[in-house]
Amino acid sequence: MYLVSGATGNVGGEVVRALADRGLPVRALVRSAARWKPVEHVEAVEADLDELDTLDPWLGGVEAAFLLPGFPDMPGLYAKLREAGVKRVVQLSGSSTETGDETNAVTAMMMGTEAAARESGVPWTILRPSGFMSNALRWLPLLREGDLVRAPWGDIAVACIDPFDIAAVAVAALTGEGHEGAVHRISGPRAMLPAEQIAVLARVLDRPLRFEGLTPEETRAELEATMPPKYVAAFWNFYVEGALDESPVYPAVEEILGRPARTFEDWAEAHADDFR
Ligand SMILES: NC(=O)c1ccc[n+]([C@@H]2O[C@H](COP(=O)([O-])OP(=O)(O)OC[C@H]3O[C@@H](n4cnc5c(N)ncnc54)[C@H](OP(=O)(O)O)[C@@H]3O)[C@@H](O)[C@H]2O)c1
Repeated sequence: MYLVSGATGNVGGEVVRALADRGLPVRALVRSAARWKPVEHVEAVEADLDELDTLDPWLGGVEAAFLLPGFPDMPGLYAKLREAGVKRVVQLSGSSTETGDETNAVTAMMMGTEAAARESGVPWTILRPSGFMSNALRWLPLLREGDLVRAPWGDIAVACIDPFDIAAVAVAALTGEGHEGAVHRISGPRAMLPAEQIAVLARVLDRPLRFEGLTPEETRAELEATMPPKYVAAFWNFYVEGALDESPVYPAVEEILGRPARTFEDWAEAHADDFR
């Protein structure tokens, strides 16, 4: 049995589908069954990883697990998996871990997650993806209002990755050999600016979309309205102070999957209905 966290989300949802497509038994962890869209042959179970005891009923028979990062007690979560006899964990992380800067709240969260995996005694594989193509879904409210997207980070190019590819790599590591103790740094096939992503969406959706970056003052105001101060500081550090560069392209997706990484065009076409 494969246990998948974040099953209602961008990456976990793709992991569930990829495992189910292979005919493998999947237990999808959801906080509320009301948010779950059933997938054939997938068992959805309710648990909240902020409260680890809610996981206890669902650990029986679990061979391998896919974990999102950053739950409050990652060592405790790993201890439960180890006690339940789980033989393999694929741990999602983030690229900023490589900066090693624990004063950045996002990086500290990812580093703490990775340390929990390494120290758990459970065989692990860590995935460090660049920013996700699905981050474009954050523009949905603006795209419902009109054709102009005004958003932060207009000058930040990211070799963004399709969650479909993150999931495919995760499934390769969950089901195949040779990934134990590996840290896979994965990216999409090319660095793109937000304006380039919007140009792709404009073609796919057949709309005259335009992108305009927010000023630094507007960016800070938007961040402060949507996240706690420590994360405002973290993203400011990444993108204004330049601590994080996610523009490099890495070969790991193609090396692991034997096919090129999916493009933003692929992602936009697959998700066009989400924007309609
Ligand atoms: N976005 C990026 O560019 C990026 C880059 C690197 C790493 N990451 C990491 O990747 C993670 C996954 O991204 P995503 O886009 O797939 O996220 P997402 O679509 O926002 O999904 C998050 C998932 O986590 C679940 N969840 C949240 N709190 C939970 C809890 N206490 N217990 C159990 N499940 C809980 C949510 O379930 P509900 O349905 O119950 O809300 C949802 O299924 C992010 O959280 C981030 O740490 C993101």
